[in-house]
Amino acid sequence: MLIAGNWKMHKTATETGEFCRELRDALGGHEGVDVAVCPPFAGLAAAVQALADTEIAVAAQNVHWEPEGAYTGEISAAMLVDLGVYGTIVGHSERRQYFGETDETVGRRAAAALDAGLWVIACIGETEEERERGETEDVLRRQLVALESHDDLVIAYEPVWAIGTGKTATPETAQEAHAFIKALLDVPVLYGGSVKPENAAELLSQPDIDGALVGGASLEIDSFVAICQAGAH
Ligand code: PGA
Repeated sequence: MLIAGNWKMHKTATETGEFCRELRDALGGHEGVDVAVCPPFAGLAAAVQALADTEIAVAAQNVHWEPEGAYTGEISAAMLVDLGVYGTIVGHSERRQYFGETDETVGRRAAAALDAGLWVIACIGETEEERERGETEDVLRRQLVALESHDDLVIAYEPVWAIGTGKTATPETAQEAHAFIKALLDVPVLYGGSVKPENAAELLSQPDIDGALVGGASLEIDSFVAICQAGAH
């Protein structure tokens, strides 16, 4: 069971250090659940420092596929490894929607990160229109084809209509999508999209839901810790 907090573009490095120290104290001794935080690039060093000697992992929100080069604004996997970062998200729907990310670039980012020894949370999920047109399975299949199975690869199923909207997928809808994904690629699958303390336990009790990628509710200690506790049961 993995609970990962995707902070998106929230928290300065100073706020990150404070939050991670509080998280360390609040989570001390939680068994049965792996926990990760994914701050913006600028906060990664502060998070690594604050969480040194803990089991809480630090991951990035994106990574480039080349080891170095003329790619203004990008960060390589080697740079993340050097900072003490363990993993990275790739292919978040906000990257696909606002920054031109495609299945191909997501696949290249994932492969480079895995080659460098990072674990990867690769996000996939259909939009509301795609679901209404009955295209959910086609979309998931297309997004998955770009990814290769690997021991350190985790998929996050994040229906775009559920992200930041408060409209969580029902446990049954999520379970159905997770089972479909696992039949195509045998890796752990996290659910993401309006996960909150109130719905976490029910979602996480589904047989093919192996954890959660949490956005908004990962920004406050109390709600993030409550979701981690729900995952530990
Ligand atoms: P949300 O975001 O929990 O705020 O819906 C999830 C995500 O985008 O990873």
